Amino acid sequence: MSQAMDPIGVFDSGVGGISALQAMIRILPQEHFIYYGDRANAPYGTRSTEEVIHLVRQVTAKLMDRHIKALVIACNTATGAAAQTLRRELTIPVIGMEPALKPASEIRRDGGILVLATPLTLRQEKFERLMEKYGTGAVKVPCVGLMELVEREDWDGAGKYLEQLFAGYDLQKTDAVVLGCTHYVFLKDMIREMLPERTAITEGSMGTAKQLKRVLARNRLLNETGAGKVDLETSGTPEELDTMKRLLQRHISF
Ligand code: DGL
Repeated sequence: MSQAMDPIGVFDSGVGGISALQAMIRILPQEHFIYYGDRANAPYGTRSTEEVIHLVRQVTAKLMDRHIKALVIACNTATGAAAQTLRRELTIPVIGMEPALKPASEIRRDGGILVLATPLTLRQEKFERLMEKYGTGAVKVPCVGLMELVEREDWDGAGKYLEQLFAGYDLQKTDAVVLGCTHYVFLKDMIREMLPERTAITEGSMGTAKQLKRVLARNRLLNETGAGKVDLETSGTPEELDTMKRLLQRHISF
């Protein structure tokens, strides 16, 4: 069987990466995706870099046993902490995610940029370099506890969290809000309602899906005859698997 028929491994610390998976399924409907949520070890964003590298190696080993042809790190935190290590250690293409500061900088006029992400993402040197290039003066907004609300599908709780958070900033002087964690993408429509019309929202799911497609094409790994399939797996509980199924169906405006 040709390698193009093999599955694509996608992972996150939990359900967040399902937002990116939705974008991938949309533009690559013939592919077979295996999505792994490392819920038992979530959150990654309040851990150390070393811990996340260790956890990510464990997840990757499980996915490699399934003969994946490419790996998507559907997590900004894990990408910042471990993408370089994985690219050194694996022989398959590795696609990562980073906070969408570049598109935010293109939209920017005379106002500010808020980057919502986990503490670990915002601490990475990789992120510092991104800030220097595209985000001069952008404000880092660590959102401890927000991913947990998405994991629990506590949309009211997330709404309250965000209202409090945004109350601390002058949104009328904000050109863009970057959703730098895949969990927050499920809150995009809610956030849209809270922001003035002038403020754009940027996030990386569609960009990552397109990058995956380009990388597969370049490596002659595109599956052009498959029927399309998604396997959802978790290190968590069966209830968490049900959440994953629901979020795969939840509407996201890309
Ligand atoms: N979804 C992950 C991200 O994109 C992080 C959530 C966590 O803290 O584990 O950064």
